[in-house]
Amino acid sequence: MLRNLRRIGSIVPTNVNYCTHARNFLPQLTKDRYPDVKRGDYAVLNENHLFHFVDLLGVEKVLNDPSDCEKYNIDWIKNVRGFSQCVLKPESTEEVSQILAYCNEHRIAVCPQGGNTGLVGGSVPVFDEVVLSTELMNDVISIDDTSGVIVCQAGCILEALDQFLSEKGLMMPLDLGAKGSCHIGGNVATNAGGLRLLRYGNLHGNVLGLEAVKADGEIVDCLSTLKKDNTGYHLKHLFIGSEGTLGIITTVAIQCPPRPNAINLAFLGLESFEDILTTFRKAKQELGEILSSCEMIDAKSLDVSTGHCQLKSPIKEFPFYMLIETSGSNNKHDEEKLNHFLENVMNDGTVLDGTVTNEPGKMRAIWELRERITEGLLHDGYVFKYDISLPIKDFYSLVPAMLEKVGKDAVRVSGYGHIGDGNIHLNISVPEFRPDILRKIEPYVYEFTSNLKGSVSAEHGIGFRKQKYIHYSKSESAIKLMKDIKKMMDPNGILNPYKVLP
Ligand code: FAD
Ligand code: MLT
Ligand code: ZN
Repeated sequence: MLRNLRRIGSIVPTNVNYCTHARNFLPQLTKDRYPDVKRGDYAVLNENHLFHFVDLLGVEKVLNDPSDCEKYNIDWIKNVRGFSQCVLKPESTEEVSQILAYCNEHRIAVCPQGGNTGLVGGSVPVFDEVVLSTELMNDVISIDDTSGVIVCQAGCILEALDQFLSEKGLMMPLDLGAKGSCHIGGNVATNAGGLRLLRYGNLHGNVLGLEAVKADGEIVDCLSTLKKDNTGYHLKHLFIGSEGTLGIITTVAIQCPPRPNAINLAFLGLESFEDILTTFRKAKQELGEILSSCEMIDAKSLDVSTGHCQLKSPIKEFPFYMLIETSGSNNKHDEEKLNHFLENVMNDGTVLDGTVTNEPGKMRAIWELRERITEGLLHDGYVFKYDISLPIKDFYSLVPAMLEKVGKDAVRVSGYGHIGDGNIHLNISVPEFRPDILRKIEPYVYEFTSNLKGSVSAEHGIGFRKQKYIHYSKSESAIKLMKDIKKMMDPNGILNPYKVLP
């Protein structure tokens, strides 16, 4: 199917990149920080392997100088560090296929990597796995401005795709703070959620088809561009959210919605979490189909943006804040609805103060307050990061519970996130990593979540950091089936070992 599609050019990375932060230190090697994890029985890379890769890809697409390899060994949040001596940068599906066929035959472990913005240690090697980066796979293959379907290679940067689509009156159905760096292949591999899942749904719905390469090099063509296609098993779903353990996603077809021409954004101050719940309920009722995002931030999280990132809040200080965005096609209609809703929640005292705007610059400034918390937190030191789904009434309960447990050791215990999706980001920052603090937090945080029937990973995945804890959210029978599928698709276990499965 790929061969019949028109290739329309490479996506160039944009210069808007929120994923830069100031911590210039090398994290401890993962093998030293987690001595319980043992290297599997994989081949140790030798000169013959390297010569083969150079023959296959050309010398410029094979890195093996330690300083060139360093950034591919360290995750964005600087929690983990591998020591791979080799980074491969294929440009095509065929090259990915040849790399994997060779690695499978020679039992060389491979760590797939997109933009390396993952937050669970899945995107970097644990030991010396070869890194397969999709950096050079950044072609847009086709775009249909009537159906809204874009087909592109896995290495296209999310924000660049969105800018490209804006010229056609379309938008990407997902948006996240890492948009300037993350790749669409990485997004699909993690089933990334983000800021507008509430409106556009998750990638299991928006990915119409994909092409992936199995561990043995076989190319699996599931690249349908149809909205409806019930011909047998829906195999694409196996790859969506599989975090590089079942295959390497090389091309995706995504359904893109029309770009709204009326967007409004409100930033609100509130006294309590109860008031957040009331506001969310009313926003759903009164804004209906135009509600496109509903996010919350607690005071300690906003301090990170206003303090470390030196951003300015448009309102004075409150215990809680909300961002409520509407997107539609008629600004007069949307403004009327939003103003009516805001009047209601302010008159009855649910919301204490707020500002609303449709000016792009001002909306950008408000979104930065939310999106840059992740980056700003790293200035506190080391961040223990948890990405939890909880029943909506219990959404914030984890923050005071953890404050009680580790408040004395922490620089900050804070919570923010996607209230519209029941997904909170709990962050405990400390001056530097300490195993005794980790032991106070884990497994308590997962037990707490499990007791409330929540999920220990709402959107970031399991990666390296959470595989031991997957059972808090998955049954034994489900984990067994996952293992059976892994065994069938990657019998030698070369794809992203030490990740996802316990
Ligand atoms: P990587 O980090 O490179 O890889 C992630 C995982 O996918 C790894 O296991 C890797 O092996 C695998 N992988 C990557 N590419 C492929 C491929 N082509 N085929 C198979 N496997 C592959 N996540 C959210 O869900 N919602 C958010 O709102 C959000 N906000 C973020 C904000 C910031 C500032 C940061 C730093 C991260 C955020 N994240 C968020 C986490 C992260 O950005 C997402 O998980 C993103 O989807 C990862 O994409 P990536 O290209 O960087 O993948
Ligand atoms: C977010 O929503 O900002 C992201 O998922 C990243 C984070 O958890 O900090
Ligand atoms: Zn998030």
